[in-house]
Amino acid sequence: MLLKDKVCVVAGAASLRSIGYAAAELFAEHGAKVVVADLAMDDQVTASIKDSIEERLHRTVILHGFQCDISSPEDCQRLATNIVSLHGTIDCLVNSAAIVNSRPFLEIDSKNLDAMLNVNLKGAFHLCQSMLSVFAERKSGTIVNVASVAAQRGGGLVGGAHYAASKGGVISLTRSIAREFGPLGIRANVVCPSMTETGMLDGNVSDSMFKDVIAQIPLRRAAKPAEIAGACLFLASDLAGYVTGATVDVNGGSHIH
Ligand SMILES: NC(=O)c1ccc[n+]([C@@H]2O[C@H](COP(=O)([O-])OP(=O)(O)OC[C@H]3O[C@@H](n4cnc5c(N)ncnc54)[C@H](O)[C@@H]3O)[C@@H](O)[C@H]2O)c1
Repeated sequence: MLLKDKVCVVAGAASLRSIGYAAAELFAEHGAKVVVADLAMDDQVTASIKDSIEERLHRTVILHGFQCDISSPEDCQRLATNIVSLHGTIDCLVNSAAIVNSRPFLEIDSKNLDAMLNVNLKGAFHLCQSMLSVFAERKSGTIVNVASVAAQRGGGLVGGAHYAASKGGVISLTRSIAREFGPLGIRANVVCPSMTETGMLDGNVSDSMFKDVIAQIPLRRAAKPAEIAGACLFLASDLAGYVTGATVDVNGGSHIH
């Protein structure tokens, strides 16, 4: 068990098909006390996540859900306060919450841009800041931010320039956190997935587009959410005790650099 009794917050876990859910499941399997947070979280969604994990693991798990809009600094602060009241501490944040939008550059207006940056970049900032206020006091904690190969290669299959730029910002943000908080023993890293079989692809990728992309990927398939979660687990755990400021590619070889 790599995260025994660690209090781990996973943002962006409302869908059972999401990377966030896969991380919640894997972290629970490794003994974590999991907190799932999402804009779309409510009691019913929380119960469905808990049921699904318990069914898979054949045991009960400690899991709580909180509704949180990461673009709101107040929501993020409230989330941190609620978790500390519940568990006394926070050990780890995985931020997998984001939105995507595919739009040609010249059609991205300032409303589109604001909406994207407010969630993906400012949301990551607010969420990290709320957790870091707890981590800094305790002089320990780990952050894993989920960015995207789109940030590295200048746009992806899904997502326009505003999406790619927001994820590039997440990489820079994470590196800055790693540098500033390293002296306190706090680590921060990024996972960059490429195309992953989640609801994010629904309506954004046609069958023929999907096949064309797969043909270009050395491993000839899209990622499973659990494979992205595996990298999150590594970075969150003591196995990665000397890893900070890193960007871990989980892309099937689609971007080798
Ligand atoms: N699926 C892919 O192909 C792919 C590829 C590269 C990167 N990613 C990244 O992986 C991460 C997980 O995405 P996914 O594929 O699991 O998609 P997903 O849509 O299933 O999960 C994203 C979650 O974020 C939540 N969310 C959106 N706005 C929010 C807000 N303001 N506050 C709180 N929660 C909010 C959504 O409700 C959703 O549950 C995202 O950061 C995404 O950009 C995905």
